[in-house]
Amino acid sequence: MQEQHELYENARKRIKQKRRLYLHFVIFAIGSVFLFVLDRFFNVGGEYVDDWFKWAILLWSFFWILHFVNVFITKKFMGTEWERKHTEKLVAKQEIKIEKIKQGLERESQHKAESQFYNDLERKKKSTKQTITLIAAIANDNALGKDNDLIWHLPADLKRFKSTTTGHHIIMGRNTYESIGKPLPNRTSVIITRNPDYKAEGCVVVNSLKEAIEVAENDTNPYIIGGAQIYEQAIELADKLDITEVHNSFDADVFFPIIDKRKWQETSRKKFSADEKNQFDYSFVTYQKND
Ligand SMILES: NC(=O)c1ccc[n+]([C@@H]2O[C@H](COP(=O)([O-])OP(=O)(O)OC[C@H]3O[C@@H](n4cnc5c(N)ncnc54)[C@H](OP(=O)(O)O)[C@@H]3O)[C@@H](O)[C@H]2O)c1
Repeated sequence: MQEQHELYENARKRIKQKRRLYLHFVIFAIGSVFLFVLDRFFNVGGEYVDDWFKWAILLWSFFWILHFVNVFITKKFMGTEWERKHTEKLVAKQEIKIEKIKQGLERESQHKAESQFYNDLERKKKSTKQTITLIAAIANDNALGKDNDLIWHLPADLKRFKSTTTGHHIIMGRNTYESIGKPLPNRTSVIITRNPDYKAEGCVVVNSLKEAIEVAENDTNPYIIGGAQIYEQAIELADKLDITEVHNSFDADVFFPIIDKRKWQETSRKKFSADEKNQFDYSFVTYQKND
């Protein structure tokens, strides 16, 4: 709206300028004829000043040319102020474009570095026989938790989690760590956060999933223990999924990613019924990634 208003105002000024120049020309033309008539028919100036009207017309034409130059050349299209503003706008637009190009290039080089990392990781895993496992308990609709906490209490799952992960690296997002609240015993807790100043006693803090995997490079079975954000990013690089299916529906705000059955092969399933300790039916399910 502001720009449209400015354009309208400038167009109005411009019309006025041109109209004035045109009027000036008409007056100049009539004036010149008038001066000619004064000289020739009324002998104004007499014998003393020869061809004085020619000099007057010449002087006037000089002023008219100045006026013309001012309207069409010096002030250019819409005046210097308008030009300055529009140059600034164009420069700002260019800067935004340059910033977008820079971000695109950064993303591209990040993407290249990531795919290089994943390729190297695949080779390394093969040579060291490392298996990266995502371990999670998921209810109906892949529900994981709510309000940064678990929604159910299933001792059988906790027992399985403890026996499976003991002695290994457990890699988790900062939210999951804060939901647990302390490093788990007999395991190396690796916390992923973007905060470079984050501290957690007894844990290794890293700033990317890539770094977390590097920290655990000598562990043949590191576990990625969540939460939703980390599962989402890590499922591509994992080899195995240890899932506890909790056969119940819950109101959740975080979810495990969809397990693509074209990529993942179910290799074992054990179903258990609810009992006095475990309130819900559950299954221990293992998936291996297809080659
Ligand atoms: N059912 C289960 O088995 C299970 C298991 C684990 C967790 N959970 C549940 O899941 C929920 C927590 O999951 P969530 O998704 O909210 O959080 P999360 O994945 O545990 O952690 C997210 C945080 O990790 C950091 N992060 C994520 N991606 C990163 C990256 N690429 N580089 C650097 N840092 C990165 C960020 O920390 P900063 O903000 O500090 O930068 C981010 O806020 C809780 O409800 C928990 O109970 C359930």
